[in-house]
Amino acid sequence: MARKAVCCGLSSLELLLMVMFLLMTGITVGLFTVLAINLNSQTKESEKPIPSLNPPENPFLIGVGRADCTGPVGDIPLMGYANLDQTAGGIHTRLFSRAFIVDDGSRRVVFVSAEIGMVSQRLRLEVLKELELRFGDLYRQENVVLSGTHTHSGLAGYFQYTLFMITSKGYIKSSIKPIVDGIVKSIELAHNNMRPGRIFLNKGDIVGSNLNRSPQSYLNNPEEERRRYKSDTDQQIVTLKFTDLDGDGIGIFSWFAVHPVSMNYTNRMVSSDNLGHASYLFEQEKNIGSLPGEGPFVAAFATSNSGDASPNTHGPYCINTGDKCDYLNSSCPIGGTKMCVAFGPGKDMFESTKIIGENIYRKAKELYASAEQELHGRVHAAHQWINMTDVTVHLNSTHSVKTCKPALGHSFAAGTIDGGGDLNFTQGAIEGDPFWDGIRDALLGSPSKEIQDCHNPKPILFSTGEMNKPLPWHPAIVDVQIITIGSVAIVAIPGEATTMSGRRIREAVKQELERHESFTKAEVILTGLSNIYTHYITTYEEYQVQRYEGASTIYGPHTLSAYIQHFRGLARAIVEGKVGELPKGPEPPFFSNVFSLLSNPPVDKKPENTSFGQVLQQVNSVYKVGEVASVTFVAGNPRNSGDMRDKTFVTVEKLLKRTGTWEVIHTDGSWVTRFHWIKGSGGQSNATVEWHIPVSAEPGTYRIRHFGHFKQRIINPVFTAYEGTSDEFRVTKTLYSL
Ligand SMILES: *[C@@H]1O[C@H](CO)[C@@H](O)[C@H](O)[C@H]1NC(C)=O
Ligand SMILES: *[C@@H]1O[C@H](CO)[C@@H](O)[C@H](O)[C@H]1NC(C)=O
Ligand SMILES: *[C@@H]1O[C@H](CO)[C@@H](O)[C@H](O)[C@H]1NC(C)=O
Ligand SMILES: *[C@@H]1O[C@H](CO)[C@@H](O)[C@H](O)[C@H]1NC(C)=O
Ligand SMILES: *[C@@H]1O[C@H](CO)[C@@H](O)[C@H](O)[C@H]1NC(C)=O
Ligand SMILES: *[C@@H]1O[C@H](CO)[C@@H](O)[C@H](O)[C@H]1NC(C)=O
Ligand SMILES: *[C@@H]1O[C@H](CO)[C@@H](O)[C@H](O)[C@H]1NC(C)=O
Repeated sequence: MARKAVCCGLSSLELLLMVMFLLMTGITVGLFTVLAINLNSQTKESEKPIPSLNPPENPFLIGVGRADCTGPVGDIPLMGYANLDQTAGGIHTRLFSRAFIVDDGSRRVVFVSAEIGMVSQRLRLEVLKELELRFGDLYRQENVVLSGTHTHSGLAGYFQYTLFMITSKGYIKSSIKPIVDGIVKSIELAHNNMRPGRIFLNKGDIVGSNLNRSPQSYLNNPEEERRRYKSDTDQQIVTLKFTDLDGDGIGIFSWFAVHPVSMNYTNRMVSSDNLGHASYLFEQEKNIGSLPGEGPFVAAFATSNSGDASPNTHGPYCINTGDKCDYLNSSCPIGGTKMCVAFGPGKDMFESTKIIGENIYRKAKELYASAEQELHGRVHAAHQWINMTDVTVHLNSTHSVKTCKPALGHSFAAGTIDGGGDLNFTQGAIEGDPFWDGIRDALLGSPSKEIQDCHNPKPILFSTGEMNKPLPWHPAIVDVQIITIGSVAIVAIPGEATTMSGRRIREAVKQELERHESFTKAEVILTGLSNIYTHYITTYEEYQVQRYEGASTIYGPHTLSAYIQHFRGLARAIVEGKVGELPKGPEPPFFSNVFSLLSNPPVDKKPENTSFGQVLQQVNSVYKVGEVASVTFVAGNPRNSGDMRDKTFVTVEKLLKRTGTWEVIHTDGSWVTRFHWIKGSGGQSNATVEWHIPVSAEPGTYRIRHFGHFKQRIINPVFTAYEGTSDEFRVTKTLYSL
């Protein structure tokens, strides 16, 4: 469905002269190709790094790849808000996995950013198995970092620990498979296009795109430490620019500390949220004329120490009364926690996603254009599995402390200002609520004294470390991993580090690395939500306040210190050339008896006297740009369409007057389309497709189409493809111009 490359870069005079020349000489065939070639050389010029820099003598080999990892967009809960009512119902934007491979001639490292809530241990193990089948031991647990962007509008169902399975409706094979396949395919694509290339580092600040959602916890950090930073969130964006030897850009990898929760828990459409929108904008700009997910340029935007960084920049207030929420417990006088919600910067969640995404994209673009600090040297990878329930942290020569078996505190159930819990829990609880403790004891048993003491002052709600039925509720074995490229270190954080936790990790790793001359001026980057999900990582001081993040720091008050100790160990092994001597650690389990709580989709039914794909609610005959064209079809359950990666449920098509043919200008991956799948009763459902017609849309004749499958028969089911097409409609610049 790729469209021809047409567009920009030449001055209009040059363009005019070239078109005239071509027309005069009668060469009309291939006009666009010629233009595109000229265009490319133009873009190339402007993208080239500062010419005085000579290509390195021993260049890296670089590969980039992107693949669709969107799963079945019906019925499956979305992963993030742990809200079982928030099940998938269509697509706002598709989800992609983006892979980068760097080889220094003798070793290689892979880093992947997938548009999912987080990487789970199960997902990682399944990806590594697939990689082993295809590549032997080329890509293994040491040199592959898998991270999730933390969008809260991706699909759940890819976990093997009980707590996550409960909020996912179990382990869902049809949900994990597209993610595994998408990640593996992105790595395979990167592997297949490895070429000599160059990498440039650049960083800058983005102001006003994140705010600390637990400032009272942050304030509990030592004053002299806080004084060293200008903000209670990290505003830094770090980018790596990848080019070939000629300086032609092939990709960008970028890190910024923000929660992708611009889309709130009322959203049902799969969406890559704010960081995903930055990727989308960057790739659409570089891959001129391509549909979403197509074209060679890959732009990944990962999250870093975003544990307490909200994108809802207007901050929290009580949505029922307009009051300020209580500062300490984020509760409202009427309605409690649920009513205290943060919004902004847009008027609705779509506009907020767009604004935050654009802010990140704009800064990244500027940094990309001006990047000149080139990376040189070797690549390294260090990885260990550690038993996080049993780490002894040496605070100094005389004192040591220990991590705990996992447990979640009461404030975990309160949620945050980005999405509050349904029950009457509030953040900042350091005493249990007798009512809920009673229910917990009756249902799950009371936590042992050992675990209570270890987690003090956390009042324990779920003593997950002591809950093993039907499978352990939380992991014990956790990945710690660092990869380095030249003087840049990428630290894979197995959870969500708060702002200050992230700063402490960065500082510790930097200090270890800089003991060696090849790392003078080391740049340490954190990739959050990597490899395995273990909830939050707060500082010891933040933990004492027991807001949501502290209550969700599952290995106790010394969780951060334990990670710092291990990350220091990895960094030291790298600089001392002793990575091979690191103990591998205990291997994580791979549970065979995972369970699913989601039944197969029912057979699809249609209203009497209609057919699948038939239009129930027609488009208007004319729309003005800026309006929304909408059409409703009789639909099947999207789960009955099977693997829809690299396909689309939706097209917006433009009539080409000259040839009388239809050109696809948008798919369900486009920002301007919304595919709502609305589930009715008795197996009936509708697909409502919206096209939010951009102001830049060309006047002309258009139509909207929907593609799907319906299922017949429960036993030996039959799946039949259907399609539906709206009436043709016109788009005008103003309603009265035609
Ligand atoms: C939240 O804190 C305020 C005092 O700051 C208190 O009046 C209120 O009762 C607390 N709310 C809850 C639900 O604990
Ligand atoms: C979610 O966003 C929509 C606007 O897009 C808004 O109407 C709704 O109140 C928000 N809900 C919450 C809980 O934030
Ligand atoms: C992890 O440590 C705990 C002690 O907290 C121990 O009981 C458990 O057996 C250990 N697990 C593994 C896989 O080593
Ligand atoms: C070691 O740390 C403990 C706890 O922070 C502190 O009380 C003690 O004074 C420290 N000892 C030394 C020798 O620094
Ligand atoms: C929460 O609700 C229960 C039942 O309504 C009540 O007994 C309990 O006191 C409430 N807790 C708080 C902190 O309001
Ligand atoms: C369906 O079509 C039949 C035959 O034309 C007609 O008798 C019946 O009333 C229609 N049913 C509905 C619900 O329109
Ligand atoms: C589908 O759309 C039609 C027309 O808008 C409506 O009457 C019907 O109730 C819808 N059905 C479902 C399942 O939403």
